[in-house]
Amino acid sequence: MAKRRIAVIPGDGIGPEITEAVLSILEHTGFEAEWVFLEAGLGAIKNGLPPMPQATIDAVQEIGVALKGPTTTPSGGGHSSANVALRKALDLFANVRPARTLPGVRTLYSERDIDLIIVRENTEDLYAGIEYQAHPDVAQAIKVITRPGCHRLVKYSFELAIRQGRHRVTAVHKANIMKLTDGMFLEEFYKVAQDYPHLKADDIIVDNCCMQLVTRPEQFDVLVTENLYGDIVSDLCAGLVGGLGLAPGANIGENCAVFEAVHGSAPDIAGKGVANPTALLLSAVMMLRHLGFSAQADKIANSVQRVCADGHCTTIDLGGSASTKEFMDEVVAQAG
Ligand code: NAI
Ligand code: MG
Repeated sequence: MAKRRIAVIPGDGIGPEITEAVLSILEHTGFEAEWVFLEAGLGAIKNGLPPMPQATIDAVQEIGVALKGPTTTPSGGGHSSANVALRKALDLFANVRPARTLPGVRTLYSERDIDLIIVRENTEDLYAGIEYQAHPDVAQAIKVITRPGCHRLVKYSFELAIRQGRHRVTAVHKANIMKLTDGMFLEEFYKVAQDYPHLKADDIIVDNCCMQLVTRPEQFDVLVTENLYGDIVSDLCAGLVGGLGLAPGANIGENCAVFEAVHGSAPDIAGKGVANPTALLLSAVMMLRHLGFSAQADKIANSVQRVCADGHCTTIDLGGSASTKEFMDEVVAQAG
């Protein structure tokens, strides 16, 4: 049988190092695929292409599944985000970001049982970066929220809740102030919730949500929110369970899915061989489940849990001294 083709975008900064480690772990634990390497980010720009080249978008669309490393986007001026371009071009409307306590990982919340999923809208909102400047001293950004965009996201989050045996879906918003945009989001949320009477549906204002997340994070189950709030709140949630080195994610569309860590290209540690590949590895685990390879997914997820619980081979972000390669070897060894 022909091997499953999977697109791979190594990306910038620590992207290539953690991608190499993750592919190696997948192969050593028995998952074979034809990896189709694609260009994006600074490498593409160096070759005179846009940060997210059309050829890369077309290939991901044709293959249907991609594993993506982070890509660098400069703040202020400079090139636009390769991620935003890919998410928009492939209409990857739902960004799924689980945050779960890993036994053995010491955090401020080690004693708590955190197990929540953020479902972040991925194509609209202020995050679309629609800005203009009619006057040198005045800059404006346009927040676009559409009813179909809210509907499909909210429906996806309730369906995900059912698939994963969850009990509660909470809409995170600022509809008290953003009455039309967030108001529409909230309205669609409660409309869709009526189709899921067995799930608890409620809502919370985003600032209170942040406070509740740092005081009583274990109360949350599935959080569904708009693009910008989701971006910020998901980094906060990553911090609750051990940091960005551990936080995986999936960008889901109707016909395509791109799996990538929550973190960025970490230029401060790039090229040193010390990055934690766990976030991208757990994103690959989500990819395996998406493709129906649940036995392989469980094998790797269980191995990561054992390595963390054991605590002897942790990377510097978790207070240890293991290199990316040492961590990778340990995950392979613990997978048996
Ligand atoms: P960042 O997530 O790259 O780094 C924040 C901090 O976390 C740094 O101290 C970094 O060393 C640490 N960190 C992140 N991932 C780690 C890992 N796997 N192992 C160990 N430590 C890790 O965020 P920052 O610095 O704000 O952004 C850097 C660049 O990444 C920017 O150009 C930004 O636009 C881009 N970015 C790209 C994303 C993507 O491609 N999906 C997502 C977020 C940011
Ligand atoms: Mg972010």
